[in-house]
Amino acid sequence: MSTADYKIVEHTYDVVVVGAGGAGLRATFGMAQTGLRTACITKVFPTRSHTVAAQGGISAALGNMGPDMWQWHMYDTVKGADWLGDQDAIEYMCREAIPAIIELEHQGVPFSRTEDGKIYQRPFGGMTMNYGESQAQRTCAAADRTGHAILHTLYQQSLKHEAEFFIEYFALDLIMEDGACRGVLAWNLAEGTLHVFRAQMVVLATGGYGRAYFSATSAHTCTGDGYGMALRAGLPVQDMEFVQFHPTGIYGAGCLLTEGCRGEGGYLTNANGERFMERYAPNAKDLASRDVVSRSMTIEIREGRGVGEHQDHIYLHLEHLGPEVIHERLPGIAETARIFSGVDVTKEPIPVLPTVHYNMGGIPTNYHGEVVDLVDGNPDAVVPGLMAIGETACVSVHGANRLGSNSLLDLVVFGRAAALRCGATLTRGAPQKPLQAGSVDKLIERFDRIRNASGSKSTAQIRAAMQRTMQNDAAVFRTDATLAQGLTAITEIYNSFADVKVSDRSLVWNSDLVETLELDNLLGCALTTMASANNRKESRGAHAHEDYPERDDVTWMKHTLAYVEEGGAVKIDYRPVHTYTLTNEIEYIAPKKRTY
Ligand code: FUM
Repeated sequence: MSTADYKIVEHTYDVVVVGAGGAGLRATFGMAQTGLRTACITKVFPTRSHTVAAQGGISAALGNMGPDMWQWHMYDTVKGADWLGDQDAIEYMCREAIPAIIELEHQGVPFSRTEDGKIYQRPFGGMTMNYGESQAQRTCAAADRTGHAILHTLYQQSLKHEAEFFIEYFALDLIMEDGACRGVLAWNLAEGTLHVFRAQMVVLATGGYGRAYFSATSAHTCTGDGYGMALRAGLPVQDMEFVQFHPTGIYGAGCLLTEGCRGEGGYLTNANGERFMERYAPNAKDLASRDVVSRSMTIEIREGRGVGEHQDHIYLHLEHLGPEVIHERLPGIAETARIFSGVDVTKEPIPVLPTVHYNMGGIPTNYHGEVVDLVDGNPDAVVPGLMAIGETACVSVHGANRLGSNSLLDLVVFGRAAALRCGATLTRGAPQKPLQAGSVDKLIERFDRIRNASGSKSTAQIRAAMQRTMQNDAAVFRTDATLAQGLTAITEIYNSFADVKVSDRSLVWNSDLVETLELDNLLGCALTTMASANNRKESRGAHAHEDYPERDDVTWMKHTLAYVEEGGAVKIDYRPVHTYTLTNEIEYIAPKKRTY
């Protein structure tokens, strides 16, 4: 079949948002609200996006359950990020958190309540009062189903503001011309047609790439589609070496057990029944930041103090909280633990293990959501026509390690920021010049090539090899040896995609082809993760390098940029960390040793 044989449907919008999770929907209705003609393309029904699975909550210094200030939140975020976060963006997020939550409340999010009717806030790891002095209660929760509550509200708002949805459309590639994004090519999964969306602005909000690993809390749809599209367009991804392991994935199944479990008083024990976090983080204990807790659990297991028949996991205890607290604050957890580990949490501990949960790395952006690249020595050169928000972006507010409950916040704050920026800079209904001949054809050729791929390896075989390599060699702890071995292996696996075989050639509901296209996106993410990790010779946040155990701010306080070249070669470059704040209401927070 040649490209001319495909049925192409053309559309023109002011803005096209790709992805309908928290960030995508917040941007979508915000754009529509400003009068921009807005389309949202999503491969799953909006309320099935992965944001629905977010449990514990969304941070904001509301001060409902004790004193709080956005400046304290900012300090905690900079420290949690191990000084790799951009402080202008972090200031923006922590300040805007407060109006963002009030806005969500007014839009209808059914937050849990205090006795006097305020939004309930729970303790979460790394969130403190008075610049690290004591634990804060900053995480606003709707029981343990906060993401579900927020996602449904945002979808309702998008419908109210009459954004147009293209549901179960798979975004294939960005349409790039002369260094600018002009639109996106998508495949209608139900009808088998290809769609060219021309737009003044394309906003990538496609989520993370947890599925590059064997065990992840992420949905199976978290396949790095935005990252893949950006890499194929010649753009970089940033700080990919920083992959967050959530301390409490269910052993075996990998499902998330919210940090809210420890926020509500749950704790971890080893084979000796010891609350070992007291040794690693004497102040914060089980509520130290996630990188610290995941490393401590891994050390306990490595040193022979793991629980279970194979001494390869840890126990999370909730029994002492009593059925009432569990029923009111953690009902979803009780159900998940019963289904996936056969445990009654009111009676027995839950077997848990650090599990891949979040990607701090992503497409580099400024705090407006505009994609940036290093061009002619300018590290903040804006890529015209392209934005990225949510987990697929690297703003960078999470630096080397994200604090729990700063993710839902990132989605709504930067989804809104992108809409505000477009509202201020785009002209409603502005005429758009025709696309250049050939700029879409090469994208269709790639689609056609993969659809008709007749190599010797199944998609599942290549995916399994990738997931095993990432799980073993880009793990909680890394060494020069594991990373070098991992890079050789993942490069070979990346190149083996040229030998993939797609068995189903149809265009309608072809899940074989969808999974193969997703695998192509995942492979770019896996490759750049391993190459960036192999390149960074220090330990910082989630990147725990055993051959370089200290953080080295002189050489390495900089963002890694990774570009994929021919044959799976990865070109590495750098952008400086923004060591300045947005306003003079808070001073730059200088690096110091991180203790909890
Ligand atoms: O543990 C959790 O509920 C996850 C929250 C987050 O990743 O922000």
